[in-house]
Amino acid sequence: MTQTDIDPHIMLAALREAGPVHEIPFPPTETGTAWLITRYAEARRALNDPRLAKGPLQDSPLQAANPLPPETLRAISRHMLDADPPDHTRLRRLVSAAFTARRIEGLRPRIRAISDELIGALAGRDRADLIDDFAFPLPFQVICELIGVPQVDRTSFRAWSNVIVAGDAAPGEEESHAITSMVAYVRELVERRRAEPDDALMSGLIRASDAGDRLDRDELTSLVFLLLIAGHETTVNLIGNAMYLLLGRPEQAAALRADPALIPGAVDEFLRYESPVKVSTLRIATDPVTIAGTTIPAGAVVMISLMAANRDDSVFPEADELQPTRADAQQHLAFGHGVHYCLGAPLAKLEGEIAIGALLAHFPGMRAALPLSELEWRPGMLLRGLRHLPVHLR
Ligand code: HEM
Repeated sequence: MTQTDIDPHIMLAALREAGPVHEIPFPPTETGTAWLITRYAEARRALNDPRLAKGPLQDSPLQAANPLPPETLRAISRHMLDADPPDHTRLRRLVSAAFTARRIEGLRPRIRAISDELIGALAGRDRADLIDDFAFPLPFQVICELIGVPQVDRTSFRAWSNVIVAGDAAPGEEESHAITSMVAYVRELVERRRAEPDDALMSGLIRASDAGDRLDRDELTSLVFLLLIAGHETTVNLIGNAMYLLLGRPEQAAALRADPALIPGAVDEFLRYESPVKVSTLRIATDPVTIAGTTIPAGAVVMISLMAANRDDSVFPEADELQPTRADAQQHLAFGHGVHYCLGAPLAKLEGEIAIGALLAHFPGMRAALPLSELEWRPGMLLRGLRHLPVHLR
C-alpha cells in the first residue's frame, strides 16, 4: 500500500497546488477521462454553475453502459440529486419542509433518546466498535423513523447500501445485485405503507404519487432510495471521523468535554477537515466551460473534490490543522453548495452534535484499541469513512 492510498489528502494537495482544474483518468466515460476541480473558489462556483448539469446523465453513454435493466435504473435514478430545475425544484419541494432547521430541532429529544439507548447498551462493556455499535445505528434509526420504515432486516439493508456507495459509475455484478435487492425492498416498503399509512414522510409521498400529478412511481422509489442511503451513509462517517480525530488528539477531546457548547462549531471543523463525502456526484458540462483558463468540453463529466476544496489554505489558514474553534469552519463545502446543497445538513449536524457530545461525556477514558494508522478506510471514490473504529471504553 502506498502513502497516497492511505492518505488521499496528500494526492489532493499536490493536485490543488498544481491548479484548480484537472483532467483525470475515468474509464467509464467514452474519452476515458473526467474533470476534477480541487480549489475552493472554483469548486464553489462549479457547484452552483447550471452548465454543469445532472439531466444529461440520464441519456449519457455512462448510463447506456450500465448493466442494470432500464426499469431498475429508472427506479433509483429519478431523484432530486439526478435532476435539474424545474424537476429538481418540484422533487425537493415535496420533502424540504420536513428537513428545515426548525423541524429538525424538534427531533432533538428523540435523537437524544436513541443516542442514550445506544450508550446504555455500551455501559458495562470494555470494548466497542464505534462504527457498528454507535455511528451507524444512530442515523439509521433516525432516518428510518423519519421516513416511516418499520423495523426491518437492517443487516441486509446495510450490506447492500455499503456495496452501492462503494461502487463506481458502472456497477459490477455484486453492486447490480445490491441495487436490484434494494429496489425490491423499497417497492415492498412502499406497498406496505400504502396499505398501512402513518404520519411519517413516505405515506405523504405515496399520497402525492397516487394523486398522480406531482410524483410518479419511479420518482417515489428513487426518492425513498436516496433518503435512506444519503440519510445514514454520510452521517456515520461524520461521527466516525470526528471520533477518530479526537482519539488522536486527547487535549482537544478534553477541551470539548469541558465545554460542550463548543461542540456544534467543532462539528463544522470535523466536516471540513475529514469530509464524509469526498467528491460531488457527477455532473455533465452542457456547454464548453472555462475555469481559470482551462476549457472543459461540452459533454465531459465533471466532479468537484469537496475534500480538496476544504483543505484550501487560501480560505482556511493552516488548513491541514484541526482547529475545533476555527472561526469560519462553517464555510466548508462538505454539504455541497447551490441547488443541490445537502437537504439533510441540519439533521446531520444535529446528529453529529448529539452523538459526539454523548460519547465524550459518557466515556472520558475512551482510547483507540488499535494504532490509528492501522485503521482501514472504506473503499470507493465517494465516501471518506472508516470500516471499523475499535476502542477501549474505559
Ligand atoms: C454528514 C452528513 C452528510 C454529508 C457530508 C452530506 C453531503 C452531501 C453533499 C455533498 C450533497 C451534494 C452532492 C452534490 O452536489 O453532488 C448532498 C446532497 C443531499 N443530501 Fe446530504 N449529506 C449528509 C447527510 C445527509 C442526510 C442526513 C440526509 C437525509 C435526508 C441527506 C440527504 C441529502 C439529499 C436528499 C441530497 C440531494 C439534495 C439535492 O439534490 O437537492 N444528507 N449531501
